[in-house]
Amino acid sequence: MVNRKIVVKMGGSLLFDSDLSIRSDIMTQLSAIFQESPNIAAIIVGGGKIARIYIQAAREFHADESQCDTFGIGASQLNASLVITALGEKAYPKPITHPSEVAIAAQFNKILVAGGFIPGQSTTSVTFQIAEILNATDVVILTDVDGIYDKDPHKHTDAKKFDEISIPQLEEVIYGQGGNTQATAGEYRILDAVSLQILKRSRFSVCLTDGGNVETLRQLLVDNRFDLTIGTKILSS
Ligand code: UTP
Repeated sequence: MVNRKIVVKMGGSLLFDSDLSIRSDIMTQLSAIFQESPNIAAIIVGGGKIARIYIQAAREFHADESQCDTFGIGASQLNASLVITALGEKAYPKPITHPSEVAIAAQFNKILVAGGFIPGQSTTSVTFQIAEILNATDVVILTDVDGIYDKDPHKHTDAKKFDEISIPQLEEVIYGQGGNTQATAGEYRILDAVSLQILKRSRFSVCLTDGGNVETLRQLLVDNRFDLTIGTKILSS
């Protein structure tokens, strides 16, 4: 049997309602699953709406993009602190803020929780960095859709979901057929460029799925049913 070590990304989209209140119901349900799972080594928490509000305000004050990123990082670290609070004893008590802290904190056999690290990337890049350092077998990305589609399912009703996707196919979905690596605002970008580079060189498996589907998540994270078709699997090269 595979000895699994799982790193979970909790997308910022799962954390807030449209009125910006915190979705404590889903946080409670997810925390219960994280506490029950014997294999979760780390959870990385996204910035979500609160990050975007701060970034927008910073732009209005003419902040450069790097400064804007630091607001996103700060927001994601605040969200990470809330997840630590929800997890209680099971969590390492402080958000991880730099790759060099990972191996040291892992000695305590608690679930590590992180937000962002440095400007110019995303909490998905942090997820893959931590998975690499911990030598994880699996990364599970929890978001507000049930998988990777050929175009943004929030905008296109005819978008088609992949059960499995190879890295070249994923690059085509992300960058389009022209291979344009420059993201523009509002584009359907499942992974940023840094994440994609780490993914290409790493050995862990990645599954992206809906964080709101608690029963399915229990099958995956508590019962280790990685054989089921849940969300989209990114096939390693
Ligand atoms: P996220 O990656 O969490 O974005 O970081 P998000 O939109 O909330 O993504 P989901 O919903 O969790 O997938 C929010 C912002 O913080 C900055 C970036 O500006 C990013 O858009 N950030 C985050 C960094 O610059 N570096 C990091 O390591 C993480």
